Amino acid sequence: SIYPLVLCGGMGSRLWPMSRVEQPKQFQPVQGKGSLSYFQTTLQRHRGGVFKPPIIVTSAGHTQLVTRQMRDLQLTGTVLAEPMGRNTGPAVLAAALVAIAEDPEAQLLVLPSDHIITGDLNATVVAMQQAADNGRIVLFGVPPAYPEIGYGYIVDGGGYTNYPGLHRVETFIEKPPYERAQALISGGYSYWASGISLFRADVLIEEFHRFEPETFYAVSAAVSAGKMINGALHLEETAFVKAKSEPTERLVFERSTAVALAPARDIQWDDVGAWNAVQKISARNALGNVINGDVLALDTHNSLIQSDSRLVAVIGLRDMIVVDTPDALLVMNRDHSQDVKQVVEHLKGLN
Ligand code: GDD
Ligand code: MG
Repeated sequence: SIYPLVLCGGMGSRLWPMSRVEQPKQFQPVQGKGSLSYFQTTLQRHRGGVFKPPIIVTSAGHTQLVTRQMRDLQLTGTVLAEPMGRNTGPAVLAAALVAIAEDPEAQLLVLPSDHIITGDLNATVVAMQQAADNGRIVLFGVPPAYPEIGYGYIVDGGGYTNYPGLHRVETFIEKPPYERAQALISGGYSYWASGISLFRADVLIEEFHRFEPETFYAVSAAVSAGKMINGALHLEETAFVKAKSEPTERLVFERSTAVALAPARDIQWDDVGAWNAVQKISARNALGNVINGDVLALDTHNSLIQSDSRLVAVIGLRDMIVVDTPDALLVMNRDHSQDVKQVVEHLKGLN
């Protein structure tokens, strides 16, 4: 049985000023006011059939938002609350420990909560169930559409003869510089790492124990000493803080011999993690502009101009991003989309 494991503890900081601490991107509507959020769309995509109720891992401050958005879908599941963000590794391990206590055979389908996916991802997932049952950690890859520097890449090491559709992982490259991304794409053997993976909970736990014993014990203690508050299991803080704040990729996937690659060729996938991605996936007018809200754009090309409330007028822009909200305005060149994180860090007083 597959348990969807939805990760929604991220801050979406590269989408500032739209994404804020109180209301990160994953909880915002995908298609404007009144539509389902990214998080809800993820839940709906993996519901019924082979799927058991989902496990959600989020930050303690967002548990009510999570519960409310689940209730709107008439969906119940397990909610784990993190006292602080420790990146995806500890979050995934905590979910695996909780899952296995309920169901020793549990398989987890890790799902970032803020992606846009069209097409039948579940067909590929179901085709990989057997491989996961046999102990593989299956990472889903997407054929790359352009040299994105904000994604990880998985280099294909060739197909397994005994599992149709399953490939060896040659190597991982996380967020390469532009030239490297270009080379990876033109080589023709690389996939974007979607961040989606399927494995048996016990396999992941074993690998954590092998490679990261300290994090394993920290997270185990945080789970056992966790407290149920309003239907969410709050992980215990003094134990959880001792877990390494690193993505699962670095803590386990990059080191484990159990990992394998499943190319998902029939889906359209986008992380929409930064403004250039929003521009890429949105409807563009004849001049290549994405215009949202009360905007007047003169002699402007290949730009994204968004206003929440007041009139925004722009003249003579090329490849620019302008995002206006009631209390903050972002103006930047599209090529700097990954750097918005620095603004947020600056605002938090981190540098
Ligand atoms: N619960 C929890 N706790 N969730 C988290 C945390 C955390 O501390 N940190 C991040 N997440 C969630 C985010 O909400 C998001 O849904 C997902 O985990 C991935 O985190 P991102 O911060 O968006 O990662 P990324 O975009 O930089 O990189 C990852 O995703 C790319 C594709 O979207 C990597 O896996 C890349 O290799 C991959 O290409
Ligand atoms: Mg992301």
